[in-house]
Amino acid sequence: MADDYKPVHHKHDANAPDDYHVRGNFATKLGFILAAAGSAVGLGNIWRFPWLVGENGGSAFILVYLICIVIVGMPVMLAEFIIGRHTQTDQVSAYSEIRPGTPWCLNGLLGLVSGLLIMSFYAPVAGWVLAFGCKMGLGMFGEARGMDTEAMTVFFQDASGSIIGGTTEPIVWMLVIMVITGGIIAMGVEGGIERACKVLMPTLLGIMVLLLIRSLTLPGMSGGLAFLLKPDFSKISGMTILEAMSQAFFTLSLAMGAMMTYASYVRKEVNLSKMVVSVASIDTGIALLAGLIIFPAVFAFGMEPAAGPALIFHTLPVVFTQMPLGHVIGTAFFLLLTVAAITSTISLVEPIVTWFVDGLGIRRIYGTLAVVTLIVALAIPVTLSVSGDSGLFVLLVQGEDGVSRMPLFDVFDFLATKLAMPIGAIVICLFTAFGMKRAMVLKEAVGTEGTPGRAIYLWYWVCITLSPVLILLVLLQGLGVLG
Ligand code: TRP
Repeated sequence: MADDYKPVHHKHDANAPDDYHVRGNFATKLGFILAAAGSAVGLGNIWRFPWLVGENGGSAFILVYLICIVIVGMPVMLAEFIIGRHTQTDQVSAYSEIRPGTPWCLNGLLGLVSGLLIMSFYAPVAGWVLAFGCKMGLGMFGEARGMDTEAMTVFFQDASGSIIGGTTEPIVWMLVIMVITGGIIAMGVEGGIERACKVLMPTLLGIMVLLLIRSLTLPGMSGGLAFLLKPDFSKISGMTILEAMSQAFFTLSLAMGAMMTYASYVRKEVNLSKMVVSVASIDTGIALLAGLIIFPAVFAFGMEPAAGPALIFHTLPVVFTQMPLGHVIGTAFFLLLTVAAITSTISLVEPIVTWFVDGLGIRRIYGTLAVVTLIVALAIPVTLSVSGDSGLFVLLVQGEDGVSRMPLFDVFDFLATKLAMPIGAIVICLFTAFGMKRAMVLKEAVGTEGTPGRAIYLWYWVCITLSPVLILLVLLQGLGVLG
């Protein structure tokens, strides 16, 4: 996108040479799809999705999740795209520009807070993934190769235990991720990242297809397919539905301004509604692929599907070790997953930095430093809270069936994905209904060259009625407010 970008002059600029902000544009539709898909595809697809599926009863959860993608995720994404492209500015200013002097802009601030909370648990996990890639690459898991399956399974459970369980080590890996993310953001995202993604994301997909073939040819994999194909609706509760809806927002990078910010760089003629379909399909496809790789392997090796956040660190290395050239493929897989995670961390941090720069007038380099420092300060206790035996930063919650442990990791995940994101999404729908003019919204959805057809009218109706009501009901039901 760097080659032939057309500058757009914009008034919200802090450090422009004249009074204007020269904003970059995505040169092509493909550039935008890749950037938005780069934001969407990340740990949410390959780490969080399989872990939630494993804990919430397999295919029944997947079904609810897919429904959520279509009737709340995609509508909210289009609404974000519209607000972003219409205003071409950061998320807080976007609301104030359309509705000056009203409290709508508080939703922009809420988005900034969700971003900080998500980053504080996303960065440590990205660190574990990087650690696995490096260790495998250095041959540190080599001794597993001669073992039988059972010994190997135990070996990798211990190995991931020490990555998640140590104290300084996970913090160091998390810091590496933050330094890389901060470095890229300080230099400006244009050029390098998008170009790299064009090569790296298809490579990740290629490796996943190889893994899929290995996984589906393992003896005893059919239990995993059954888990994925036979829905068990008894596992579905109000909380599960809330979990599925939060995952839909999370995996599509919604309700915290990431997609809004990216859309602010899109040319006026691009049909945003088509972009939504592309991004959501890529993202969902990769999540389902991850499930199809992991669960057959989990069952083939007699492992536990409900292992929680450690799931992919327990199973995948066992699969790798059992394939020809497995350590090479495994190393490549974890390193590419790190790249996928970093294209997502960038989209989480960038909107906050953009606000520091555009909204507060702080120079980009200081803004980046401030945001990175803040995230590191939050991420350290979060990392320690899941360090096996340290017991630090773990809340003890009194429930009906006794006291349960709630690590800070889970607290932040809960606050961001189950509270802040649904609330943010409801406000985005309401803003579409009451904050913007209908004609403008419909026109912006298809771009200057399109005319809104039936699908767009249907979307508008869903977005202003069905989506917000459903999100609210799911939220209240999940939190137990509706009993
Ligand atoms: N969607 C990314 C993933 O699945 C994570 C992510 C990036 C995100 N940007 C976001 C989540 C903004 C919520 C909001 O890994």
